[in-house]
Amino acid sequence: MAESAARYDLDRLSIATLASHSSLQILHGAKMEGFRTVAVVTRDRMWFYEQFKHLIDYFVVLDSWRDLCRGDTVRRLQTLNSVLVPHGSYVEYVGLDCAESIEVPIFGLRKLFRVEADQWAKMELLRRAGIPTPRVYRVGDDIDRLVIVKLPGAKGGRGYLLARSRDRVVERLRRYVEEGLIRSFDEVMIQEYLVGVTAYYHYFYSPILDRVEILGADVRYETNVDGLRRLPPNTATYLDPELEPSFVVVGNIPLVLRESLLPRILEYGMRFVEETKRSLPPGVIGPFCLESVIDDNMEIKVFEFSGRIVAGTNIYIYGSPYSYLYWSEPMSTGRRIAREVRLAIERGTLGKVLT
Ligand SMILES: Nc1ncnc2c1ncn2[C@@H]1O[C@H](COP(=O)(O)OP(=O)(O)O)[C@@H](O)[C@H]1O
Ligand SMILES: [Mg+2]
Repeated sequence: MAESAARYDLDRLSIATLASHSSLQILHGAKMEGFRTVAVVTRDRMWFYEQFKHLIDYFVVLDSWRDLCRGDTVRRLQTLNSVLVPHGSYVEYVGLDCAESIEVPIFGLRKLFRVEADQWAKMELLRRAGIPTPRVYRVGDDIDRLVIVKLPGAKGGRGYLLARSRDRVVERLRRYVEEGLIRSFDEVMIQEYLVGVTAYYHYFYSPILDRVEILGADVRYETNVDGLRRLPPNTATYLDPELEPSFVVVGNIPLVLRESLLPRILEYGMRFVEETKRSLPPGVIGPFCLESVIDDNMEIKVFEFSGRIVAGTNIYIYGSPYSYLYWSEPMSTGRRIAREVRLAIERGTLGKVLT
């Protein structure tokens, strides 16, 4: 793909992304860095994104996200000298095969999509990196503590459940198979439920500057697990004896961390970068996120990662306390992506940030 980018007119490069998730941030950032912008949008969302047409030079309109890899769409993106910025919804919307094979240069590490799609491979990568992770179980394993049962795919925590016994897990998953929510038990990951507070760290690895930056942190606001604590203990079951916590994300809340935690958080980010360089060369490029729980001993355990820009970065379109420390100017993750592309072009090393 770096080769196909070599045919691009670099003075007329465009930053393209799917109109969803963190696209307004990405497009805004690209504009700030002087790039042309392309929003790939489905017809039903067009009216909304047109309200932001000052940020968007070209619309590529699709009937369905699945049309992204059609020949005419790809040619249009190539003609516009597009670099595609994948975000948290990219693979979920267009499917893994299209996501990783599209013949448009991607800002980021394409190879990581397939690892991310497999919950087991994902946790394995974290472990190999030497990042502390929760204990994991397979369906059928003996369960001796509270666990969280995770369904495959970025469904924003939908259908996740808590359980304390093997029988309960199996009973519920049988129902999920019948309902067609999952195909087999193998797709499911069970993790020890970590007690503490959740914290999600936004990193950016710059192959051009060869450094890992912490660009921010957030907490996800999830319904109804976050809503249940508004009720006194045990009253939730009066509402509905079957009521259980769920983890459907609604938004994100900013977080600034104790400074004494920062060295470890940065170290885990660096370990992640090193491990991806070892096992998935050339390694992660640009934004990624480690999602964790911190307990009362200040121990951090990472329960998953995202190899792309996460929606929590939308809090910091005007920059975060951390991004300001590196750049002393408003620097969102979206803008940071465009800045990296610009730095790469200036140094004639665009191939380092595209796959
Ligand atoms: N091991 C865990 N212990 C406690 N809470 C967890 C654990 N894993 C996930 N969660 C909660 O469930 C939410 C969704 O889980 P996650 O694995 O991030 O799935 P996804 O982001 O794909 O929806 C998290 O944001 C967190 O609140
Ligand atoms: Mg997550």
